[in-house]
Amino acid sequence: MKHAKILGTGSYLPEKVLLNSDLEKLVDTSDEWIRERTGIHQRHIAAEGETTLDLAENAARNAIDAAGVAVSDIDLIVIATTTPDCVFPSVASMLQARLGIINECPAFDVQAVCAGFAYALGVADNFIRAGSAKVVLVIGAETFSRILNWKDRNTCVLFGDGAGAVVLGASDEPGIHSTHLHADGRYKDLLHVPNGVSRGYDVMQQEEAFVQMRGNEVFRMAVKKMGEVVEEALAQNNMQKSDVDWLVPHQANIRIIKATARKLQMDMSQVVLTVQNHGNTSAASIPLALDVAVRDGRIKRGERILLEGFGGGFTWGAALITY
Ligand code: UT7
Repeated sequence: MKHAKILGTGSYLPEKVLLNSDLEKLVDTSDEWIRERTGIHQRHIAAEGETTLDLAENAARNAIDAAGVAVSDIDLIVIATTTPDCVFPSVASMLQARLGIINECPAFDVQAVCAGFAYALGVADNFIRAGSAKVVLVIGAETFSRILNWKDRNTCVLFGDGAGAVVLGASDEPGIHSTHLHADGRYKDLLHVPNGVSRGYDVMQQEEAFVQMRGNEVFRMAVKKMGEVVEEALAQNNMQKSDVDWLVPHQANIRIIKATARKLQMDMSQVVLTVQNHGNTSAASIPLALDVAVRDGRIKRGERILLEGFGGGFTWGAALITY
């Protein structure tokens, strides 16, 4: 059983909804600008005291229910997050305890920002291919609102909080056909939170503790690299664009998503869009979108899905999957 198959999906969004009109009161922006330039209408924001672990736990429980596995069957937990509850232990470790998994399975976090879910899925897929795991919980969970400067209109209108999860199981047939992960660290200054623990809390400047982005340059690279990585995924599997039923992209900007769909010659009816309701939830955006389309009956068993994400680093990745 050398393939990883998606057994079930789950997701969770915090209750509080922040509308574009709410943001008009915080920064010099407008509902019209945000909708036109990004496609975002609203986003969810974690309540005070609600953490990435809480979001991850809710998404995980939904995915475990959908997969129909026992928590004791899970033998690996990988969580993609940029916004962990604490420096250590990992969110994955803490989630293992919350879920009551006492089989001592490995649990760790992966940090690749908005490409994080593609990375986590790639890691999990390779564990299953190598025979090192049979049932894997893979999660993308973020409380990105905590690292936003609510005075910076360039960034605070774009992001939201949420979590999405999948349970992968070892199977005789794919499943995940291939994953494709890339990074280019030369672009680190275009999208980053400059400060971090290693530089010392005492030098932590307010604005350096928050997301900074040169949006236009990120946009251009995102369109280019998403286009390249989907071609790479198709070529490796000797598949044509027409072999793909669904595009489940990272939900940063509707204009980036439309550009990728155009390159794939896919009609927008084959693209799962959640950016209007969720905003950019970083590592959570792909599994959130996947779960939405599975639960509303659009994505069906046997259909082929292309996932792709792009984020700070830069990091980017894709996965070609038969659901
Ligand atoms: O998930 C990780 C990857 N992230 C992304 O993929 C994000 C990629 N970037 C983007 O999605 C877009 O670049 C943005 C949505 C961030 C910005 O859209 P844009 O069309 O690239 O706008 P821009 O940055 O070129 O700015 C256009 C104008 C500027 O004003 P001037 O200089 O032309 O007078 C900005 O100051 O829009 C202004 N602007 C705003 N106006 C109203 C920037 N943010 C806002 C705002 N409200 N929130």
